[in-house]
Amino acid sequence: MKKILGLALTGALLVSMVGCAAGGGDESGGGGDDELIVGFSQVGAESGWRTANTKDIQGAFEEAGIELKFSDAQGKQENQIKAIRSYIQQQVDVIAFSPVVESGWDTVLNEAKDAGIPVVLTDRAVDSEDDTLYESFLGSDFIIEGERAGAWVLEEFADADVVNVVELQGTTGAAPANDRAQGFRDAIAGEDKFEIIASQTGDFTRAGGKQVMEAFLKSNPDIDLVYAHNDDMGLGAIEAIEAAGLVPGTDIKIVTVDAVKDGMQALADGKINFIVECSPLLGAQLVDIVTTLHDGGSVEKRIVTEETTFTQEQAIEALPDRQY
Ligand code: AHR
Repeated sequence: MKKILGLALTGALLVSMVGCAAGGGDESGGGGDDELIVGFSQVGAESGWRTANTKDIQGAFEEAGIELKFSDAQGKQENQIKAIRSYIQQQVDVIAFSPVVESGWDTVLNEAKDAGIPVVLTDRAVDSEDDTLYESFLGSDFIIEGERAGAWVLEEFADADVVNVVELQGTTGAAPANDRAQGFRDAIAGEDKFEIIASQTGDFTRAGGKQVMEAFLKSNPDIDLVYAHNDDMGLGAIEAIEAAGLVPGTDIKIVTVDAVKDGMQALADGKINFIVECSPLLGAQLVDIVTTLHDGGSVEKRIVTEETTFTQEQAIEALPDRQY
């Protein structure tokens, strides 16, 4: 109990205690006593980022002494919907989830609302027009991430006349795939020399990135740049480029998003040229949010994760202390 109260105070930096949240507190249809039980539905285990995110969330809840019911949706929206329904049935106090895709959540989120159980979105957004269906969305601004990748590309290719870009997109319909594509296009829009000659999903996996890159290399002899929506797909692309007898980072430049250890190592080795960070360390903030909701407080509707970018030199410096 002491620990939970302590966490609520820490959380005051992030959240404001201004009255009762819809569905929060002990009258919420949740556990109904002091014990806080949270149901969390994770996307899957598609990438190094996701593994780090799961570890961080589970670790933060364990440290806080809060019961976390965890389910892995294995990349399927129907599994997430089933998990959310099961959490409603179990009358957990708060439901948190990272939506596989953006659309198609209104029905199940209305069921949670009717049951009086507050919902927190972590990492990814839903595209529902009704923002009363969730209490808070904690995670990155993926459009800014795409813009940061685009800003680097503008500088890197400042003297080029023509730049042929291939794009390895994340999971079709997922918020980071939609927004990273958008942000990147917005950033390069003013420069006609950039042409996105091929764009396909690699589903945020290393195997997917490799397979799609192999196909890109077969049909496009003059690729200047790979824009991969995450490190794992970029690492898969490196394998495909090397197998084709080319030098990644030199013959073909690569920019990715995430900054997980393997990606940072490839950047330090000169195989990736630039990484835009997307932080998976959401556990402590999520603990603050659910604790505040349970105590009857309200939380910020949008909490944006702080992130940076990495050049090769910065990756070499950051690698020894990289947590994930
Ligand atoms: O939603 C975050 C994205 O999902 C990460 O950038 C990617 O690696 C993961 O699969």
